[in-house]
Amino acid sequence: MHAHETNLQPADEWREFQAFTNLLAVSFINASTCSRPGVFETRLRETLSYTKMPAFVHYAVDGDIAVLTIDHPPVNTMTPAVAEGIIAGIARASADDAVRAVVLRAEGKTFMAGADIKDFEDDASAARLLAGFTGAARAMEDCTKPVVAALHGSALGGGLEIAMAAHYRVIALDGRVGQPEVKLGLIPGAGGTQRLPRLAGVAKALEMCVSGAPINAKDALAAGIVDAVIAGDLLEGALAFARGAERMSVRRTRDRDEKLANASAVLFEEARARAVQTMRGQTAPLAAIEAVRASTQMSFVHGLRREAELFEQCRHSVQSKALIHLFFAERAAGNVPDVPPGTRAKPIRRAAVVGAGTMGAGIAIALTEAGVSVRLKETTQAALERGMERIQANYARAVKSGRLTADTASERLARITSQISYEGFIDADLIIEAVFENIEIKKQVFVELNGVVGPECILATNTSSLDVDAMAEAGGRSNNTLGLHFFSPANIMRLVEVVRGKATSGETLATAMALVKRLNKIAVLSGNTHGFIGNRMIEMYGREAQFLLEEGATVEQVNQALYDFGMPMGPLAMYDLVGNDVMRDIERGSPALNIAGVRRPIVLPQLLERGWLGQKTGRGWSRYGKDRKPIPDPEVAALIEATAGAARIERRRIDSNEIVDRCILALVNEGARLLEEGTTQRASDIDVVCVTGYGFPAWRGGPMFYARRLGHKRVLARIEEFRARHGEAIWTPAPLFQTEGEN
Ligand code: COA
Repeated sequence: MHAHETNLQPADEWREFQAFTNLLAVSFINASTCSRPGVFETRLRETLSYTKMPAFVHYAVDGDIAVLTIDHPPVNTMTPAVAEGIIAGIARASADDAVRAVVLRAEGKTFMAGADIKDFEDDASAARLLAGFTGAARAMEDCTKPVVAALHGSALGGGLEIAMAAHYRVIALDGRVGQPEVKLGLIPGAGGTQRLPRLAGVAKALEMCVSGAPINAKDALAAGIVDAVIAGDLLEGALAFARGAERMSVRRTRDRDEKLANASAVLFEEARARAVQTMRGQTAPLAAIEAVRASTQMSFVHGLRREAELFEQCRHSVQSKALIHLFFAERAAGNVPDVPPGTRAKPIRRAAVVGAGTMGAGIAIALTEAGVSVRLKETTQAALERGMERIQANYARAVKSGRLTADTASERLARITSQISYEGFIDADLIIEAVFENIEIKKQVFVELNGVVGPECILATNTSSLDVDAMAEAGGRSNNTLGLHFFSPANIMRLVEVVRGKATSGETLATAMALVKRLNKIAVLSGNTHGFIGNRMIEMYGREAQFLLEEGATVEQVNQALYDFGMPMGPLAMYDLVGNDVMRDIERGSPALNIAGVRRPIVLPQLLERGWLGQKTGRGWSRYGKDRKPIPDPEVAALIEATAGAARIERRRIDSNEIVDRCILALVNEGARLLEEGTTQRASDIDVVCVTGYGFPAWRGGPMFYARRLGHKRVLARIEEFRARHGEAIWTPAPLFQTEGEN
């Protein structure tokens, strides 16, 4: 039907689109890599000819079915060579009269995890990839024999896009499909936004392309994305499916327009409004909506072209570079270079958690999810019961929302033994101390543990800022001791700072890194400094926010400026949420904030004197009603003005640029110091901590990535401006910017 909207016949449209993608490849190769014409011609042939059969796709025949197996470890990413393999395989199957249908499957733990993300970095590779994808998808869809894709593991991004170009799809019971590109600041670039609405309908396609969240096999079947779920052996199931007599017809996704008919403008407006609200500041979700909308407005091929244009815009965006940086940063964080790869991680089967407060209970839940059995210890029966009630309530919520079945929830609950003694600690592989954040109390726990655990047991403290070495000494087994700083709620938050003491062994570290991965969380290694990576940085950020108030900014202005920057809430709203008393304790314990003669925030103590602790008392920096929404408090404004006046601080109008620069560059400068002193292994680890632990906007890549994009020279200039106004002690640029400031 769409072909009639233009004067072009589909074949012409295809040629036009193919020319467009080829043009991209040619121009990029030409511009970026080739100066001599001979070299250029060869490259072009390599890019666009699909005559050879690389080893990434194996060809076999089972009776009358050709089986193409993608074999590109570790996760079968799409590359031009894989595309060539698919095209060559389809050509061979088409030419073989004995073959009636084709099954496309993949080797290893997953079907295709999409495009190789590294190929997005430069124009030439991206263009080659796009040409490869388009070619492979078209070869499959054009094939005159039925093509069945057999999916297992994760068919994500380009993996799903290739699968949708097959005529049928079957999926293993544990498989999942998704278009996660928005999480990389991109949109599907190989037809996903045009084929998915044709299979699953526009609403479902919008949901999947905009959120990026994958769906499981059952939901994929219900949505019409796959045609069957295979409970047993996937290949056998796929072969049987391909042999099903009634299915031996080709059925091209691109021609299935019936689900596009009911798309209303409202659907797109709603999707847009939702994305603006829930994915604040991000451009890719809006581009994804635009691309899906194109599927309802133009022919398939023109839709592909619109998708390619939007994809290219996204690929060039800073947001995409930031999110791709984070993708690899998260995976790099687990590597500890001075712990050799062969170092044995001890198996953790039995653990004990000391302290059943919010943190202890959350950690116990996280451990049970990974199959670890847990002894949860408190000092009194009453405290223990409160902790267990918290845990039970958590599982009850999970069952009610459908996240867990009742059976799984009771299985997990049964893994927790609650007790007020140290009974059974002798058998534990790991103990995590999660008692009140006070060094003396924590040291006492370590002294007690020393007498009750086995010689190989690993001792961890869940402190958020205190001295891990002091506890290690108290426990008398420094080799086996380290910090595991979980974030609250510990069963939900993905970040764990793994804190290395001065004597922590490689084996202890390797065990902790492996355990955190097993908990489906991200481990970032930190040295033993007060506040480790995250809290030490956030202290500087919070201090600057308070200074800004003293100098004339309002609470609302400071909160709004940082919210608009992309933080989940402003810094003073964060203080009110955590509790001003808790923040005061953190600030008091921080050596960096308590250097003699260095300016300290002066309003916070005034709030505490009045009992304005934040949300929990109904007022802090703002007032709070039942809905917990902040209401400007004129009394706080007057208090700030009076306190600053008494201290003779000059007050002036402060704009949001200055608010953002001072708070964010305070973070950045402290991050650079952590890097210099070796507290953190790499700048990207800092980015991971700030994004996953503190809600720094992922699409800005984290503070260190943000600083690099700004340019270290500009960062240095701004810090020096602040130094001239506020003094050396607060604003000395970290050596990193001083030495790299020339760049
Ligand atoms: N491109 C390039 N490399 C990729 C990749 C991709 N699309 N997907 C995974 N990898 C790499 C990882 O960086 C990692 O490399 P490393 O071992 O050198 O660190 C390796 O493959 C294994 O990936 P990992 O994420 O550690 O494995 P997993 O089993 O935990 O998860 C996936 C597998 C597929 C679920 C996960 O890798 C994933 O979500 N990948 C991205 C999917 C995606 O966004 N695709 C769309 C691209 S546009």
